[in-house]
Amino acid sequence: MYTYKVAGPQVGIEQEIIRKSCEMIGYGSQSNGTFPTGGSMSNYMALVMARDTKDSHCREKGMSKPMIVYTSRESHYSNSKNASFAGIGKSNIRYIHTDSKGQMLPNHLEAQIIKDLDEGFVPTYVNATAGTTVLGSFDPIDKIADITEKYKIWLHVDGAYCGSVIFSDKFKYLVDGIERSDSFSYNAHKMLGTPLTCSVLLVNDKKHLHNSFSNDADYLYQTDGDDFNLGKTSFQCGRRNDALKFWTLWKSIGTNGLKQIVDQQFELADIARAYIKSNPDYTLYSFDDSISVCFNYQGIDPMTLCTALYEHQITVVGFGSFNNDTFIRLITINTNNKEYDILNFFKVLEAYVHKTSKIKKEVLEQA
Ligand SMILES: Cc1ncc(COP(=O)(O)O)c(C=O)c1O
Repeated sequence: MYTYKVAGPQVGIEQEIIRKSCEMIGYGSQSNGTFPTGGSMSNYMALVMARDTKDSHCREKGMSKPMIVYTSRESHYSNSKNASFAGIGKSNIRYIHTDSKGQMLPNHLEAQIIKDLDEGFVPTYVNATAGTTVLGSFDPIDKIADITEKYKIWLHVDGAYCGSVIFSDKFKYLVDGIERSDSFSYNAHKMLGTPLTCSVLLVNDKKHLHNSFSNDADYLYQTDGDDFNLGKTSFQCGRRNDALKFWTLWKSIGTNGLKQIVDQQFELADIARAYIKSNPDYTLYSFDDSISVCFNYQGIDPMTLCTALYEHQITVVGFGSFNNDTFIRLITINTNNKEYDILNFFKVLEAYVHKTSKIKKEVLEQA
């Protein structure tokens, strides 16, 4: 995938997906992108572009002043790893408070930026999330963009988990303001269900990809023009043609089909939430317009229950935490599931709890 000479049609396929995606989110004629190895790598590439944009000498000479990264407490853990890889340092990440739905609080973000400026730090990069890993919350991009534009800070929107809402007329409002970001990533291998890996990173101005990731290599680049020599804008040299998986899916079901995939996941989450709300044995921790359905059952410790379900080969479901609560976390991301499967999940869980509490009771009675 590094030169047109070697990978002609595959390069065309990747560029076509990128062009269409950029159009959908309202990026302009200078936009472009690449297919990194995943959402973590997309966050990393965005951070490196932010760093090099803030300090154009950084690539050659290294960092001269401490740069600061901002992200919410609910963001993906790759932000922490990436800060160390990029030479920023983990302690130069500011974790911004969220509201009760896990969305970054813009006023806290601005207050922290002002404090850092006062103390001589260089605010460099904001990583907002479209679909936080645990709760599936969406940070308020428009309000965050007001701040990043004001202080000239790179805004990346990490949509690895739920950025594919851009395909849904009904749910794309969740990323309102996305066209104001400097970069945006989404994983087709998550919401859209392509085989792993299939991650898209888009940049509002392609020169940043080139500035941060190009390197001359006479043995490779032997044709004129670099628009189709993707090695000049990608992290690796050789890459898999991940775009082909997405291209075949898109061609086979159309944009409308992708929209239905996304909408159905929200419908399945609605079904799960409605079931939980209608049953007093359950406590619900999540909210509408999220495909992460977080709950507890009969006040049972979620870690104990999830581990027991797994160890007894009943079903596999994880748990997560937000603020002081820990809960079971059901993700309705598999579009092959139907209403029956979601309701059956609860039936299986309840049957297991019922059976185990009956056994415990019998043992107690015999004692
Ligand atoms: C919000 C978010 N960002 C990034 C990632 C990392 O994506 P990947 O596994 O493709 O590296 C995830 C994975 O769950 C995620 O939820």
